[in-house]
Formats: sequence, C-alpha cells, structure tokens
Amino acid sequence: RKPAPLPRVIVLIGLMGAGKTTIGRRLAHALDLPFIDADQEIERAAGCSVSEIFDRHGEAAFREGERRVIQRLLDGRPMVLATGGGAFMNPQTRQIIRENGHSVWLRCPLNILRKRLEGRPGRPLLADGNISEVLETLRKTRHHIYAEADIIVDCGDETVRSAVERVVTAL
Ligand code: S3P
Repeated sequence: RKPAPLPRVIVLIGLMGAGKTTIGRRLAHALDLPFIDADQEIERAAGCSVSEIFDRHGEAAFREGERRVIQRLLDGRPMVLATGGGAFMNPQTRQIIRENGHSVWLRCPLNILRKRLEGRPGRPLLADGNISEVLETLRKTRHHIYAEADIIVDCGDETVRSAVERVVTAL
C-alpha cells in the first residue's frame, strides 16, 4: 500500500522562541515547499514592525491584522507557514488555520525558551516584565489551546536538523 502523502500546507504554532521560523525555513527546504513567515508578512503589509503596531494601534489591532494576513496567505497553495505565538490563540485565526492547514505545535521547555529570548528585543510581550514570569503565564494560558494542533512535536536543545527530522517523521 502506498504511504499517505505528506500534508502540503503546514502551519507551525507555539510560543515565542520555539523555533517556528528557524525550523520552518529548514523544514520547507527539506520538503521543497515555499516558506512564509506570518509576522514578516504582517510587517510588510503594515509597513512597520510588530512592536510598532503594538505601540501605535494596540494588541487587538495587531490580532485583527494577523487574522487577515493569515487568511489571505492560506489560500490552498502548498507552504510551510510560521505564525506568531499568539495567532492560534485567536479563535477566528485558529479556525482558519485548522480548516486550511496541518497545524504543528513546536512544544519546547520554558527554560530553553527563556535562554533563547533573553536579550532579544522586538517582542512586545516581553518588553516589560520578567521573561520567566511572562513565559509561565503564557504556558498556563496557551498550552492547552496549542494542544489542539493536529500534531505536537517536542523540540528543545537538539539541532535544527534533528528538529526538522522529528517534524517530518511526525507528519
Ligand atoms: C507574539 C509572538 C510574536 C509576535 C508578537 C506576539 C505572541 O511572534 O507575533 O510579538 O503573542 O506570542 P513569535 O512567536 O514569532 O515571536
């Protein structure tokens, strides 16, 4: 019997620092699919950075723009799409992702996320506040929703290459 074909619209979700962009780019290369980063597309559409959108218009406006951009991107074309950590938390955006793609939660221990995120500017949710506390709050509020992804892949301190292999095996 022929094995089932791999999904061709793959949407990476998970907390900031989990590697959605880094792993996504390499995964796309491995599967010969285009790679798209939703946050970059939002920045391009808005003509400013994610932090500037938060500052000028607030998080609610960012989430609405994020939903529109993701809806526009997921038009049936095969791709690997990396989303921002909050995208899957918006019920409408989550529905769009679930209806149009194969969602993959890159689940990563908080201590590894913290190490990666320390000293990396540009993330409004980390701008004021203790990274460990913010991550702990996000874990509590988000992990049970991320768990609705089609598949969950544990990743952590391994190489990007082995994380990509794990995702491909899980698909
Ligand atoms: C956010 C994550 C960010 C970006 C924005 C909000 C979040 O993307 O969309 O700062 O709510 O978790 P990354 O997950 O790529 O850092």
